[in-house]
Amino acid sequence: MRTPVEPIGGGKIRREVPLAPLTTYKVGGRARWMIDVDDEEEAIAAASLAAREGVPVLVLGRGSNLVVSDRGFDGVVIRPGTGMSWREVGEDGVVTAGAGCPLPVLARETARHGRSGLEFFAGIPGSVGGAVHMNAGCHGSETAEWLVTARLLDLATAEVSERAPSDLEMSYRHSNLGGSDMVISARFRTEQSTRSQAESRIREVTLWRRLHQPGGTLNAGSAFKNPPGDSAGRIIDSLGLKGLAVGAVEVSERHANFFVAGAGATASEIRSLVEEVQRRVEEATGILLEPELRFVGDFG
Ligand code: EPU
Repeated sequence: MRTPVEPIGGGKIRREVPLAPLTTYKVGGRARWMIDVDDEEEAIAAASLAAREGVPVLVLGRGSNLVVSDRGFDGVVIRPGTGMSWREVGEDGVVTAGAGCPLPVLARETARHGRSGLEFFAGIPGSVGGAVHMNAGCHGSETAEWLVTARLLDLATAEVSERAPSDLEMSYRHSNLGGSDMVISARFRTEQSTRSQAESRIREVTLWRRLHQPGGTLNAGSAFKNPPGDSAGRIIDSLGLKGLAVGAVEVSERHANFFVAGAGATASEIRSLVEEVQRRVEEATGILLEPELRFVGDFG
């Protein structure tokens, strides 16, 4: 028999929570437990619940790079709550934000203060925590360039540390952080600019995105990382794979590295399409594309 679970932060634990609405793909099953945490202590308590129950932990940001299995996630999902979505632009131009802060919000807030550098975040529908974890980037910028330090919580040991990009070994869409490293907050440098210049750069970024990427559809950004010196989208397109579908999921006609989910799509269809495109690209070019999408839960 399962041991009773102590309430965390006034009974924030929820059971059997559907994860689909919490991801941009809107597919996938339920989490056995889900806890929105507002500070480090609550995150530690959530992690200790997982340890006690012997189940894995998943830190979920804005779910914009994620495919949750149709069978769900049999563990504890920890999500930075509203108490971790703050942001602050300092007098010295250093911008500090909680892990849950949406990147477009951070971009706009920074621009409003006449500071530049973080405008590219307007084109990434993720959170600060996710950006640090995967060194998110676009338009020639990436998180590592602007990150000063990240405050991290090791969910396995409850240790908190402050780390610089060099400690995190950040490279293209990569850091050395693992599943039990939770970003609590991050500090970013910015440069002196004017509000109108920074806001006009944000408009450029969002317009470019609207023109080149399948906005308004269900997707989770790029399916694959770009291989060195080339673009996964260009390669997939050159093989005539736009429109290729598995069930209700298809390679976007707008950009071939986006796989768009239609009505009734499932996580396993997304997974199968990723595998099929990967196989065809390797067969035709010898290049093994590495998925950028993160698959969580049991895909059999
Ligand atoms: N291209 C095609 N056909 C396509 C798509 C692209 O021929 O269907 C060609 C384009 O014409 C262009 C080249 O491929 O010559 C590169 O395309 P694009 O400029 O769209 O850039 P990308 O390499 O596909 C990267 C990032 C995006 C980011 C954009 C803009 C990766 C995997 N993708 O895309 O990031 O928004 O640059 O900076 O690094 C993401 O990571 O989720 C993401 C969306």
